[in-house]
Amino acid sequence: MGRKCTIVVGGQYGDEGKGKIISHLALNDKPEIIARGGVGPNAGHQVKHNGIVYSLRMIPSGFIYDKARLLIGAGVLVNPTVFLNEVQNFKVDGRIGIDKRCTAILQKHMDADKGDNSKKIGTTGTGCGPAQMDRVTRTAALCSEVPELAKYICDVPKEVNACDNVLIEGTQGFMLSVLYGTYPFVTSKDTSASTMAADVGIGPKKVTDVVMVAKAYTTRVGNGPFPGEISIDDAVKLGYQEYGTVTRRPRRTSRELHFDDLKLAVMINSANHIAITKLDVKFPAAAGITEYEKLPKEAKAFIENIESKLEVPVTLIGTGADSTAIIDRRKK
Ligand code: IMP
Ligand code: MG
Repeated sequence: MGRKCTIVVGGQYGDEGKGKIISHLALNDKPEIIARGGVGPNAGHQVKHNGIVYSLRMIPSGFIYDKARLLIGAGVLVNPTVFLNEVQNFKVDGRIGIDKRCTAILQKHMDADKGDNSKKIGTTGTGCGPAQMDRVTRTAALCSEVPELAKYICDVPKEVNACDNVLIEGTQGFMLSVLYGTYPFVTSKDTSASTMAADVGIGPKKVTDVVMVAKAYTTRVGNGPFPGEISIDDAVKLGYQEYGTVTRRPRRTSRELHFDDLKLAVMINSANHIAITKLDVKFPAAAGITEYEKLPKEAKAFIENIESKLEVPVTLIGTGADSTAIIDRRKK
């Protein structure tokens, strides 16, 4: 394989708008395969395409590009019920596969994810941490043992290494990494680009691009430290207040970008592209703009400040929820 292998990762606490960036890259770059890495159905991605909003937890967000094969890598925890519902709702039967090595999340894992430690961390309650524990102690059931999944089981590394253009979707965000984030208030796994590559079975030398996504302000769901946090009332006034896709919990908001964290994330992810989302929320006059030159002056200054602090070009800029509301400066 491998003329082109792009990994998309989150640079903050998840919910950076990866789904939106991925949907653009899928439609624009036309990958043969879109493969999902990351933790599991604790992720919630929203994609808006042709006026319809799709909420996804298991299926790759790039599914709106209907020529791509969709794969779920070995490292991803799969909730069979959530997966089968999404396959049906998003009509991707026939082009989606699950790696034969994936761990299955069972009811007991979801039950265990409601205990005291889960409450302390503020987990999503989706069973990911407990399922990961069973994998590590080598007692977990694999998806290949679940009869309802039989027709989807495949060998993801074989497929991705045989194709010329692959898009790898990361989930969660850098600051939720069990290694590099705000431990113990983190998810159950590393969330950096290297792990996303390993999740789908691609070696580091084959990765050509790493796109790190950050929102124009910062949000976090669940507990843990969060510099510059403002009240829900203030976030509502600013138009920043968001609610979780999976849990519907109100997200915590900070007006600022946390540059020290972002710099560490750039280094560990080896990001060569930054994508900034929700620029239109911070600068309403940027809404719907698709050419950089047409952005308002303050919005351009904001982008240039990010570039000078992170020393990585901001090549993708989200200016609205729809997959087409984007500035793509990669060609220049
Ligand atoms: P868990 O991943 O469900 O164990 O939750 C651990 C922490 O990660 C909690 O603070 C969750 O809110 C957070 N988290 C996990 N997945 C996501 C995500 O996709 N977006 C945002 N926060 C997440
Ligand atoms: Mg999300």
